[in-house]
Amino acid sequence: MIAIDGPSGSGKGTVSRQVAEALGFQLLDSGALYRLVGLAGLRAGLEPADEAGHAAIAATMDVRFGTAADGGEQVWLAGEEVTEAIRTELAGNLASKVASVAAVRTALLERQRRFATPPGLVADGRDMGTVIFPAARLKVFLTASPEERALRRHKQLKDKGLNVSLAGLSREIAERDLRDSTRAVSPLVAAADAITLDSTRLTPAAVVARVLVLARERLAGS
Ligand code: DC
Repeated sequence: MIAIDGPSGSGKGTVSRQVAEALGFQLLDSGALYRLVGLAGLRAGLEPADEAGHAAIAATMDVRFGTAADGGEQVWLAGEEVTEAIRTELAGNLASKVASVAAVRTALLERQRRFATPPGLVADGRDMGTVIFPAARLKVFLTASPEERALRRHKQLKDKGLNVSLAGLSREIAERDLRDSTRAVSPLVAAADAITLDSTRLTPAAVVARVLVLARERLAGS
């Protein structure tokens, strides 16, 4: 079990996917589950403040993950492909809001633990090492400066043909960081036994290599 936690734009998604692939492990993109709850709630016409409604969605939504031919993630909600729809800034902001609802987090807890199947799991999120998989063999807390994270998100969106202002993105990232790290339930914090890696000046390949060294050390020590 490898837990990779950190704020948005720290590179967790890319790094987790590549580490899982290199080790032949399953991948849990827990952020996608919160994005799915936000999107499904929006589509069902729920008010953002409807905690019970969102918790019910979290408990019952029909979700399937797959891998595209290029290795990227595919996500289906009730049989409809929503791979792109959950990646919008709107879905990210809704996700951050529903993620502060305790009943939503409780409803997603068992769902997340079911991903832990042999030979192993790389779990990507905010509370993988602190709450969902506290016994993970390796816990990595991946960070990067807020400026670098805004630049990365900006480039990602630009590559998709979306023209979003960098200043607006920086503001949104700062707001989301604050909400994620100050909420009462499962705030974004490094586990006491996590290894913090700052990816600001590292390529994704360098971070992956570092995590794989740590993972192999831990696996060999088992
Ligand atoms: O990693 P991401 O950007 O896809 O996550 C979207 C939101 O979901 C993020 O703002 C915080 C929330 N989240 C969470 O609270 N706990 C997790 N384990 C993963 C994501």
